[in-house]
Amino acid sequence: MKKIIITGGAGFIGSHVVRRFVKNHPEYHIINLDKLTYAGNLANLKDIENEPNYQFVKGDIVDAAFIQNLFEQEQPYAVIHLAAESHVDRSIVNPLEFVMTNVIGTVNLLNAARHIWKDKYNEHRFYHVSTDEVYGTLGEDGMFTETTAYDPHSPYSASKASSDHFVRAYHDTYGMDVVISNCSNNYGSFHFPEKLIPLAIHNIKQNKAVPVYGKGENIRDWLWVEDHARAIELIFHEAKTGTTYNIGGHNEWKNIDLITLLCSILDRKLGRTEGESAKLITFVTDRAGHDLRYAIDATKLKNELGWTPSVTFEEGLEKTVDWFLQNEEWLNDVTSGNYQQYYQSQYANR
Ligand code: NAD
Ligand code: TYD
Repeated sequence: MKKIIITGGAGFIGSHVVRRFVKNHPEYHIINLDKLTYAGNLANLKDIENEPNYQFVKGDIVDAAFIQNLFEQEQPYAVIHLAAESHVDRSIVNPLEFVMTNVIGTVNLLNAARHIWKDKYNEHRFYHVSTDEVYGTLGEDGMFTETTAYDPHSPYSASKASSDHFVRAYHDTYGMDVVISNCSNNYGSFHFPEKLIPLAIHNIKQNKAVPVYGKGENIRDWLWVEDHARAIELIFHEAKTGTTYNIGGHNEWKNIDLITLLCSILDRKLGRTEGESAKLITFVTDRAGHDLRYAIDATKLKNELGWTPSVTFEEGLEKTVDWFLQNEEWLNDVTSGNYQQYYQSQYANR
């Protein structure tokens, strides 16, 4: 059976990718390699943990010797690499952590793959899951395409840009079969409540202030996580070697409009009067180096592989809010302990 190592499979997007591969592909044995940082949670995979084609391995991609041993032992057919430090605000506080996991960790995986795959690269595949933030920021017009020049601004996006470059370098230098996808902002179930949408849902639910950075005029292009996972499955199987695809849903929202919509959805679902939750909106000091606008042109993915999003934003957001309301225990678990300290340090004096 072909073994696939999926890194970061206990995180938000990774858990959706692991679930999809385990359920749709009995022909693969899926090894979920994850360090279980604050963002990794095996509760995200409870429904598939006993499947015969699934296995969890706890480990750190920064540990080169561990990674090399694992690859020698398991002889994976392919790698789908999602493990990363993923939150821009945390990268502003501790950039080195992002260099270690996102850059060094990625190079360790590439080296381990190279070590066992050399001379037979055409039988294997290294898929790097990346972000549109590598392209920097847009003004009012235009969209990111696959040929937009890299221009990252945050330590997070700089680390992801660097890892993208290393992945391409292993293709160009050694002939490794690689594919990269750069996706816009995701939302959906199991989203850690440090990111805007789950943080806002959590706070609105608790009648706590909803922090909106600056004037709330920054624009993000939101995609339902299941549609991202479906795109990854498709690209993994169909993309030509060395290809990059942008993934996005043509779904741009100003932060303030998005939060206002979320407030009204929660008013309705929580039986509050219309406008009650919106009173929680609180403008706070802006993020340093805050990118104004992201927007993805996903035409290449649509034309070449036939992918389009399966839900509208309104549908996806409804599903997401319902999931968070129905999974209180998950939300309580991930927001106890260290989360409280994190929240204080980010928001107390803002
Ligand atoms: P996440 O923070 O929810 O999960 C990251 C996972 O990686 C966690 O399970 C964590 O335990 C694991 N991890 C972190 N450091 C590790 C290490 N050193 N060794 C092994 N495992 C480690 O992230 P996410 O939002 O699910 O993002 C997944 C990937 O998708 C990332 O590469 C991110 O850059 C990319 N991406 C995210 C978005 C988004 O909107 N969230 C959009 C585009 C691309
Ligand atoms: P985020 O979810 O952190 O994703 P990213 O920075 O990777 O795009 O933030 C989405 C947008 O929401 C971004 O413009 C920053 C803003 N934001 C807030 O206004 N308040 C918050 O508490 C957070 C976490 C983000």
